[in-house]
Amino acid sequence: MSHSPLIEKYLTNLQDLTLNKQTSILDLACGSGRNGLYLLEHQVPVTFADIKEEALEQTLAQAKQSSGVFKGEQQKRGQYWQVDFEQEGSTPLQGKSFAGIIVFRYLHRPLFEQIKAAISSGGMIIYETFTEQQAQFGRPKNPDFLLKTGELLELFAGWEILHSFEGVIHKNNDNKIKQAVAQIVAIKP
Ligand SMILES: C[S@@+](CC[C@H](N)C(=O)[O-])C[C@H]1O[C@@H](n2cnc3c(N)ncnc32)[C@H](O)[C@@H]1O
Repeated sequence: MSHSPLIEKYLTNLQDLTLNKQTSILDLACGSGRNGLYLLEHQVPVTFADIKEEALEQTLAQAKQSSGVFKGEQQKRGQYWQVDFEQEGSTPLQGKSFAGIIVFRYLHRPLFEQIKAAISSGGMIIYETFTEQQAQFGRPKNPDFLLKTGELLELFAGWEILHSFEGVIHKNNDNKIKQAVAQIVAIKP
C-alpha cells in the first residue's frame, strides 16, 4: 500500500515543523511504515511506533533499502519504538513531545488525550481512520474501531483545522474498493 495523499500534501509543513522544533514526527501504529517512510525519504525525522516487532523490522529494512544521496542520513533520521499503546494503566506517550503525530487506520480512544498532549504547540496532527459507515463495506466492523460522525472535529475543537473530510474514498485509487473514513489535519494552538 502506498503512502496517503495527505502526507504528500502536508509534506512541506511537516518538514518545516521538524526543522523548527528539532523533534520528530510520530507515525503511531505505523504498520509497514508506508507514511513515515515517505517522510523519511523527504528528510523528515520519524519515530515509527507499533506493537509488532516484525512491522518495525520490515520498516527498518525498507528504510535501509531506499536509495539516493541521503541514504545514510535517512537511516539516522528513523527511530523505531516497539510499544503497546493499549496496555491497561500505561501512559506510553506521557512526557514525550513530537512536532507532529500521524495516525492512519488505528483507533484506541483512551489514547486521544495523550496524543493531543504529546504534540508540541504549533505542531500538527494528521489523523485518518474508518468511520461507522465502513461497516457496510467490510472490516473493521467493531464500533470500538470506528469513528462516529463529527468525532475527529470534536476531538480537535480549538485547533486550527487545515483539512477535514468525512465520506467514502477509493482505496489506492482503486474504484472497486470503497472505504468510509474521516480525516483531519490540524495545528495545535
Ligand atoms: C491497520 S494497521 C495500520 C498501519 C499503518 N498506520 C497504515 O495505515 O498503513 C494497524 C496497526 O496498528 C498496530 N497496533 C494494533 N494494536 C496496537 C497496540 N496496542 N499498540 C501499538 N500498535 C498497535 C498494528 O500492529 C498495525 O500495524
